[in-house]
Amino acid sequence: MSAARLRELLLSRGREWPAALESFEVLDSTNDVMRERAKDGAAPWSAVVADRQSAGRGRRGRAWASPPGNLYLSVLAGAPSQPRWRPLVPLVGGLAVAEALAEFGVEAGLKWPNDVLAGGRKLAGVSAEASFGGGGPEWIVLGVGVNVGVNPGTVDPGLVGRATSILELTGAAPDRLAVAAALLIRLHDRHAELEAGAGGALLDAWRARSVAWWGRAVEVVSGEQALRGVALGVDDGGALLLRLADGRTETILAGEARELRLDE
Ligand code: BTN
Repeated sequence: MSAARLRELLLSRGREWPAALESFEVLDSTNDVMRERAKDGAAPWSAVVADRQSAGRGRRGRAWASPPGNLYLSVLAGAPSQPRWRPLVPLVGGLAVAEALAEFGVEAGLKWPNDVLAGGRKLAGVSAEASFGGGGPEWIVLGVGVNVGVNPGTVDPGLVGRATSILELTGAAPDRLAVAAALLIRLHDRHAELEAGAGGALLDAWRARSVAWWGRAVEVVSGEQALRGVALGVDDGGALLLRLADGRTETILAGEARELRLDE
């Protein structure tokens, strides 16, 4: 993949990209490089793509299978200046990814906080790693992995039946740089809306794309805690509302949720 070509693709869509774009054949993790760039003072919207990663990271310390053929991208986003919108950044990341993938014929759904699913299988993942200064987060590295041409279940037995790819869903693997360009534009525009204070409208757009599991039994792992209950929805701060067995409603700011099977 070539960063120069990514810049041209963006320009052909009317975007003169405001920051550095870099491409690599292989990296441990695009997130690590982007974090280094951020510490060195990189401009917001700097981005890094790689053909493959040797130590790709998922959320909660999991590995992210990163064979050649898929897209691995990290982009530096500023933290929204209004603190109340900051918790929405991960959700807006997932929303922007799902919207960008629609350009390639895929209708993806969102599972709180930001899993991008198609037919119940994972198509893309988004991570948000923030750096905190005295006054709150200073910058956020959004890391996006999109299964473009390879279903990771074919390289990682643990993912069999749980992942899919654009190729599997549509019969064609689009140009990964075209996917990267669509993602960057969507992330940039949705983030600008958040900065402009449109968090409520963004949450409505997120809810409209969320997978239909409201009212279902789920387990949420948040920090060291695993909570079971009924998923009620997402509140105006982007937190998951979970009704516990004792009738209380728990507000969960961050974590990982999965639907429970009937026998669990
Ligand atoms: C998840 O667990 O769903 C988040 C996955 C995020 C993976 C991407 S791939 C590009 C970037 N580099 C990484 O090491 N992780 C993110």
